[in-house]
Amino acid sequence: MQHFLSVHDTDNLSSLVAEARQLKSAGVPKIGQDKTLGLIFFNPSLRTRLSTQVAAQKLGMSVVVMNVDKDGWKLETAEGVVMDGDTAEHIKDAAAVMGQYCDVLGVRAFPTLKNRAEDYSDRILHSFVRYAGRPIVSLESAIRHPLQSLADLITIEEHKTVARPKVVLTWAPHPRALPQAVPNSFVEWMKEADVDLVVTHPQGYELSEDFTKGVTIEHDQNRAFAGADFIYAKNWSSYQDYGQILSRDPSWTVTAEKMALTNQAKFMHCLPVRRNVIVTDAVLDSPQSLILPEAENRTWSATVVLKRLLESL
Ligand code: CP
Repeated sequence: MQHFLSVHDTDNLSSLVAEARQLKSAGVPKIGQDKTLGLIFFNPSLRTRLSTQVAAQKLGMSVVVMNVDKDGWKLETAEGVVMDGDTAEHIKDAAAVMGQYCDVLGVRAFPTLKNRAEDYSDRILHSFVRYAGRPIVSLESAIRHPLQSLADLITIEEHKTVARPKVVLTWAPHPRALPQAVPNSFVEWMKEADVDLVVTHPQGYELSEDFTKGVTIEHDQNRAFAGADFIYAKNWSSYQDYGQILSRDPSWTVTAEKMALTNQAKFMHCLPVRRNVIVTDAVLDSPQSLILPEAENRTWSATVVLKRLLESL
C-alpha cells in the first residue's frame, strides 16, 4: 500500500478486514519503532485524532500532531500565484518540510461547500501526495473518509447474521450543511463489499454518480428500511444544489418505529451525532445500536492501514 486515500488503495478488501480483525484479537507487532507519524488537521476531530494516535502507538510509532487551522498560518494551494495576500506559506513547501520530519503523514481537510469543482479536486490531500514524498493517509478529505468506511465494514463483518446483509444508507436531517465525504465513501466501500446496498434520501440529495453509479436508490425511506440488516444514518448537504440544505424534514429522523420495519437491523452512525435530530435516544441507547463498537473499530482500521504502509516503506 503506497497511500490510503480511498477503497481503490486496497487490492483485497476481505484480506484487509480479516487482518484488522486478527490484529484486534491477537495483538499488534511493534513494527513502527523509530518511525514517526504526523497528523495534520485543517479541521477539528475527536475520533480520528485519538484513534489514529492510539493505533500508531500500538505499532510502536511516535506521533506528532499539528492543528494547521489553529496553530499554523494560512497555506497557499494555488500554483504560480504572487503571494502578497493572506497566505504565508505555500503548501508545496509546508508538505515537503513535514515529509522531512515524518515517515507517514495523515491529513484531514474538509470541503468549503462553496465551490463543488474545487472541493471535488481534493486539492489539499493531493498536494500532500505530490509534495510530501511520504505515504499519505486520508483522515477525511473533502470527498471521502476511508478510515471511517473501513471501520464501518469491519463492524458490519463482526455483527452480520446473514452472509450477504441488506445495508441501508439513509439521509437524516441536521441543522447545518455537512459534507458528502462520509456517504460518498461509505457507498464506495459497500459497493466493493459483499452486501446488498440501498441508499435512501429525499429528492435533491442525490450523491455524485461517480460514487452511486449502479447503486439502488429508494426515495421512500420506509420501503428502503423493509428487511434491512443494517441502518447507517448520515446527513449530507446537496451535491446538485451544492452545499445547500434542501430539507430539515423530521419525518426522516430514525426512530424506534422505523427500526421496527427492518429485519431487527443494527443501527450505525460514524459520530458525532445530533441526538433526536438524526436519530432518537431510544435507538441510540438500544441494544441495536453499534455506535460504540463502530467507534472502537476506528482504532483497528487505522492500525491495519498504518501497518500496511509501514510494511511498504
Ligand atoms: N467519525 C469521525 O471521523 O469523527 P471525528 O470527526 O470526531 O474524527
